[in-house]
Amino acid sequence: MERTIGAIILAAGKGTRMRSKRAKVLHPVCGRPIVSYVISAVKALSPAEVILVVSDPAVPEALSEEGLSFVEQPEPLGTGHALLQAKGRATAQTLLVLPGDLPLLTPDVLAELIDRHEGSGADLTVLSMIVPAPGSYGRIVRDSEGRPVRIVEARDASSDELGITEVNTGIYCVKNEDFLWEALSGLGAENAQREYYLTDLVSLYTQAGKGVSAVAAPDPDAVMGVNSQSELARAGRLLRGRVAEALMEQGVRMIDPESTYLEPGVEVGRDTVIHPGTHLRGATRIGEDCEIGPDAWIEDSTVEKGSRVRYSVLERARVREGSSVGPYAHLRPGADIGPNVRIGNFVEVKASRIRQGTKAGHLTYIGDAEIGEGVNIGAGTITCNYDGKAKHRTVIGDHSFIGSNTSLVAPLTIGEGTVIGAGSTITEDVPPGTLALGRARQVIKERKD
Ligand code: UD1
Ligand code: CA
Repeated sequence: MERTIGAIILAAGKGTRMRSKRAKVLHPVCGRPIVSYVISAVKALSPAEVILVVSDPAVPEALSEEGLSFVEQPEPLGTGHALLQAKGRATAQTLLVLPGDLPLLTPDVLAELIDRHEGSGADLTVLSMIVPAPGSYGRIVRDSEGRPVRIVEARDASSDELGITEVNTGIYCVKNEDFLWEALSGLGAENAQREYYLTDLVSLYTQAGKGVSAVAAPDPDAVMGVNSQSELARAGRLLRGRVAEALMEQGVRMIDPESTYLEPGVEVGRDTVIHPGTHLRGATRIGEDCEIGPDAWIEDSTVEKGSRVRYSVLERARVREGSSVGPYAHLRPGADIGPNVRIGNFVEVKASRIRQGTKAGHLTYIGDAEIGEGVNIGAGTITCNYDGKAKHRTVIGDHSFIGSNTSLVAPLTIGEGTVIGAGSTITEDVPPGTLALGRARQVIKERKD
């Protein structure tokens, strides 16, 4: 019978080195909290249980993943004390214990660790990594036969030990047995940080004659811990790089991946060109043959085939095939434009449908509107959709021409094929096929000097 796997994620630390009010594991990397990457990696293995050790109530509140259970560590007294809080909670036979601060973790790393643990028959397996600059990581101390006997934290290490380049990733695979929980209860805190170190399990297991093994992860980047703002930035860079590589692999052309900000989960079609300064966020989908950026912020939006978005902000918007947005346009939630629509300079659109072939080229606000096909919206046109209390709709029929600097005071319906004179303030419905003027007649007077 296959063993059941449980995961315990330690997410209760103070994160002092971040120098932030926010719990460390909630700091975002590419739009998601650090700890949610750990949860995703763990969940990909279909574990029997996922338990998070937390202290800040903001952590469970911020997580929308299903099937998590939480135990509280009332005070962050160290990683060993953190794991002890899960005593009596974990029921699986084999436990994966891991820090909540590894945003680049991938499921294959964990699957490999479990395989190696079960293959070796060890009671405790530590996932290590070899790094040229071991910094603040705990060092794996091996005996003359190469067996791991101890982990020494950098702050407690001798200068010889500091030179060890095999370090602890903080990920362990361990049998869920009484010995584990007893060893955790017996941990001391005689170290530089006065904390109960989980790492001390290695020497306790060794002394008790139990099997300990340490296996090195092939890619140290995948198990990098985030402890500082600088490491947070590096993790973001690496993760964006991963997403960019995957998209380029699918035929996306990226002018400068390093200045392109991509979140995992965004989709981009092939032969689309992404220029520098582009941010693709959340549930964003870009079709084939698009040209995106430079400098575009596109969040939870869809841009369909052959469209172009330059120097613009899109939030929960849809741009249908062959449309062009920007420079300097703002598509707000519910903007649904195209196909073949042109939204130009300094145009803002909110909660509006704009149909095929319509153009709004300059300095326009369109809110709560339904605009037909082939409409020409002159520069400076605005929908006056808000009367101070409620929002009202504006409807413009196909092939109408709205002269420049028109104010459309909603609620308002303008029929098909109408012409609105430039500078009008339109407050009453306009029947199809008519010309409407809503402005004072020009007068010319003799000058008297
Ligand atoms: C830890 C390891 C170190 C290893 C490194 C890998 C110990 C003593 N050290 O150091 O050997 O090289 O991870 O990244 O374990 N946490 C709690 N409660 C606490 C303290 C920490 O839940 O009381 C959580 C933190 O939220 C974090 C994880 O445990 O997610 C690791 O703690 P952290 O302080 O980051 O340990 P490191 O100093 O990085
Ligand atoms: Ca850490």
